[in-house]
Amino acid sequence: MSGVAVRRTLAEPEIAEVTALVAAAEEHDGVGPLSEHARLWLRRAHEGPGGPRALTIIADGAVVAYAHLDPATGEESASAELVVHPAHRRRGHGRALLRALREETGDGLRVWAHGDLPAAAGLAGSEGLARVRALFQMRRPAADPLPEPRLAEGVLLRAFETGRDEKDWLRVNARAFADHPEQGAWTLDDVLQREREPWFDPAGFFLAERDGALAGFHWTKIHSDGVGEVYVVGVDPAAQGLGLGRALTLAGLRYLRERGVPEIMLYVDESNTAAVRLYESLGFTRHAVDVMYGAGPGAA
Ligand SMILES: CC(C)(COP(=O)(O)OP(=O)(O)OC[C@H]1O[C@@H](n2cnc3c(N)ncnc32)[C@H](O)[C@@H]1OP(=O)(O)O)[C@@H](O)C(=O)NCCC(=O)NCCS
Repeated sequence: MSGVAVRRTLAEPEIAEVTALVAAAEEHDGVGPLSEHARLWLRRAHEGPGGPRALTIIADGAVVAYAHLDPATGEESASAELVVHPAHRRRGHGRALLRALREETGDGLRVWAHGDLPAAAGLAGSEGLARVRALFQMRRPAADPLPEPRLAEGVLLRAFETGRDEKDWLRVNARAFADHPEQGAWTLDDVLQREREPWFDPAGFFLAERDGALAGFHWTKIHSDGVGEVYVVGVDPAAQGLGLGRALTLAGLRYLRERGVPEIMLYVDESNTAAVRLYESLGFTRHAVDVMYGAGPGAA
């Protein structure tokens, strides 16, 4: 078996080989092995020092295995995605790549596996990595029937007002996502940045007020390809259990449908069973799943 080469850039012929390898894996596994971010980098594959690295294994003169590595930054631990050509599996290439990745990064490495394939689970498990997180992408056709949202006594829905609602929203977001640091730690800057995005539309950003105070929200998004998204739904813990989550979700879904989107998608953590159940009851089904493997729960 050949060794693993670690590089910051790839030459054109190798980029073409890796692209073909990725396509063969997608055809074979029924799911693409790389995220959009890793595929975009591969197409350019010419970043300066400090950017992603490419790990390859060459056998019989061709690339048979590939990994994309994003080294650790000040804020995030290192993360990687890896794939072995379907015609070259079960020969130890996957294990060799994973070991090389861990040598590059140390114990903090997180590996994202797309789909929930037994081979990925087998490899990760045999190298002592645990499933630390899974992210579901759920979808539903926009035209499927939707009940009317029902609001509890004293609750009113209105649209977000830029320049006025940011601070209140941040407070409720932090409370609603106290256990989900990625979402709960958003700052004013995170909100202002999104307000400048071309997709931002306050008319699709619903706030629920209870006795005059912000109690929950549903921020929707319409992607450039026309698909609608339940971007973030949150309810203040003090207002949970009143059906606000369901009412807010329904209000946003109806809005997206009125805007003419054909399909509505969302991301939700597998561990967020309350949210998964709510979305299932509203007709969403599992469309895709990404699994993160790491050294243990602390790795997340
Ligand atoms: C997962 C993947 C990278 C494994 O590559 P590979 O080169 O076939 O793996 P290896 O030959 O190094 O196998 C190492 C161990 O992984 C496990 N494994 C590999 N394929 C497996 C399968 N189909 N089912 C169960 N366990 C499997 C076994 O424990 C194996 O050890 P063994 O051969 O001694 O039994 C490959 O199947 C792949 O590219 N899948 C699609 C992309 C992907 O899911 N990437 C995420 C990886 S975490």
